[in-house]
Amino acid sequence: MKVLGIETSCDECAAAVVEDGREILSNVVATQIPFHAEYNGVVPEIASRMHTEWISRVAQEALDKAVLKAEELDSVAATAHPGLLGSLLVGLNFAKAFAWARDIPFIAVDHMLAHLYAPRLEYADVPEKSPSVSATDAASATSVSYPFLGLLVSGGHTIICRADNFDDITVLGTTIDDAVGEAFDKVSKHYGFGYPGGAVIDKLAKSGNTGAFNFPMPSLHKGDHKYDVSYSGLKNAVINQIEKFRAGQIPEGGDKSEDIAASFQRTAVEILLRSLFRAAQDTGLTTIVAGGGVAANSYLRAALARRQDLRCIFPPLELCGDNGAMIAGLGYQYLVRGERSPLTVTASARVKSFKKRYP
Ligand code: KG4
Ligand code: ZN
Repeated sequence: MKVLGIETSCDECAAAVVEDGREILSNVVATQIPFHAEYNGVVPEIASRMHTEWISRVAQEALDKAVLKAEELDSVAATAHPGLLGSLLVGLNFAKAFAWARDIPFIAVDHMLAHLYAPRLEYADVPEKSPSVSATDAASATSVSYPFLGLLVSGGHTIICRADNFDDITVLGTTIDDAVGEAFDKVSKHYGFGYPGGAVIDKLAKSGNTGAFNFPMPSLHKGDHKYDVSYSGLKNAVINQIEKFRAGQIPEGGDKSEDIAASFQRTAVEILLRSLFRAAQDTGLTTIVAGGGVAANSYLRAALARRQDLRCIFPPLELCGDNGAMIAGLGYQYLVRGERSPLTVTASARVKSFKKRYP
């Protein structure tokens, strides 16, 4: 079954064709980053206007790359939530119209569930298109079985959850303020590197000393906040340090601006892992599946790889960020269960109906 996946929740205008929920036949991501970079963040009005201008061509390119005609598709899936409302509506309405015109099933999916699904995808021609994933990684990732712990880390969300099925997750912990990707983006902005900042900070941190600065860790270890995270304290401490550095107050042991980036990244990852490992211990779950833009972070990947007692599965780098393949893959799972979405489905900016807290 061939599914066209449409993703326009934020600043990537993306379409992909995936066969049987697994094999990526095409994956087109048209990024709007250069149009938002000068504003240091995504401008919702620009995003939705550009999606409107691009979506037809992006979907056509996905079909062309898959060497398929529209009539050969079995279904269309699109992100319905969460995200920027104006952006979501473009992709969702495009997908509904596309399905209605061809009388094929339409499936509305959740963006965060799709990020969690990403490691289950494989490229039809793995070696050239996906250098970051070895054949063994791909095989083990696709064989992942439920339940597992999910680590969803992006620019808008930070969620630690238990996943019992592709559409059944229980949120154990989340951020009480900024998302982890947002913290990377804000630190990058203060460095003057602009938006998005995660990959830039990741690269800068490679030549810095991770132990140069002791930035604060939030004290969230009790009761309801046991698996939660917080990034606003860390973000402010790092921004203050950058300002001091600029003012010529160079502390001993941290004499390069790279040291601030490396120490920030270590702390940001430690905050995540402290809650994640606590959840692993309490639930007894030993498989962790990561997804979202921050799952591309090299320090996070290395830190999780060091845990011999846990099986940690990451999507290949190009499937960590927003893409249509994860939408098509997830859409297929609903289809095989015989489900369809009505054309009356609409977009919503927030995550919908995840169960809260592990009993
Ligand atoms: O999932 P995504 O593409 O979009 C959202 O749904 O938000 O995630 C984008 C986020 C941005 O905040 C970006 O800075 C961050 O992922 N990111 C990274 C890295 N690559 C992207 N953060 C840390 N390290 C990276 N290598
Ligand atoms: Zn995303």
